[in-house]
Amino acid sequence: MIEIKDIEKIYHLGGETVKALDQVSLTIGKGEFTSIMGPSGSGKSTLMNILGLLDRFDSGQYLLNETDVSGLSDAQTARIRNKEIGFVFQSFNLMARMNVLENVMLPLVYAKVPHKERVQRATEALEKVGLGNRLKHMTNEISGGQKQRVAIARAIVNDPSVLMADEPTGNLDSKTTEDIMRIFQELNEEGTTIVMVTHEPEMAEYTKRIVYFRDGIIQKDVEQTPKKIAKREGE
Ligand SMILES: Nc1ncnc2c1ncn2[C@@H]1O[C@H](COP(=O)(O)OP(=O)(O)OP(=O)(O)O)[C@@H](O)[C@H]1O
Ligand SMILES: [Mg+2]
Repeated sequence: MIEIKDIEKIYHLGGETVKALDQVSLTIGKGEFTSIMGPSGSGKSTLMNILGLLDRFDSGQYLLNETDVSGLSDAQTARIRNKEIGFVFQSFNLMARMNVLENVMLPLVYAKVPHKERVQRATEALEKVGLGNRLKHMTNEISGGQKQRVAIARAIVNDPSVLMADEPTGNLDSKTTEDIMRIFQELNEEGTTIVMVTHEPEMAEYTKRIVYFRDGIIQKDVEQTPKKIAKREGE
């Protein structure tokens, strides 16, 4: 599904250059739940932005679902990104002037899905993350954990091939973090491929594979049996 080979990313800032990714090769298959770990500045977000087609790289090759994405125009790249990739960020990035349902419907507007189907699919995605009872709330009327669940619903509503999350629980307390990780595990069990950046080892324990970065290089790549989160009472 995701196949990168010898990817290099160099940032130029003033007279200095930073090699953020140094000949990185990585394959992520369908159905995986992988976490990316490593110290601050090791290249995790740079990698996510490249995998998510938000940023370009300087050399190497990237095949996404067997399509070589390096030679594509901005418009072609945007089309593939909208169709194939769902994003969840630390800072939620919701639209303040839209209610919960409208936020989740937004990717379907870009995908030109008819209105009635938009409402239906967005409602289903919100029910999946346990927010079927908050559809008309504005984003300042819900908690941080609920905001992140809205962001997850928005990321999955288009049925992307991969869900990418960069420090998705960085702004949340430990109980809410567990809720989010439970949702990720449930989505993964239903077949969603997930790649998640985290610097918390406890969160990486919930995933099936950990890729460790250091100074723009993959240092270690380990498969594991994920720790399970118990269902909440009443579920
Ligand atoms: N836009 C940019 N311009 C110049 N240098 C950058 C830019 N973005 C990142 N870098 C540099 O590239 C390296 C990798 O940064 P990156 O954001 O990928 O790290 P990270 O692993 O995500 O760190 P963190 O855990 O702090 O989020 C760092 O040395 C950083 O300073
Ligand atoms: Mg980062």
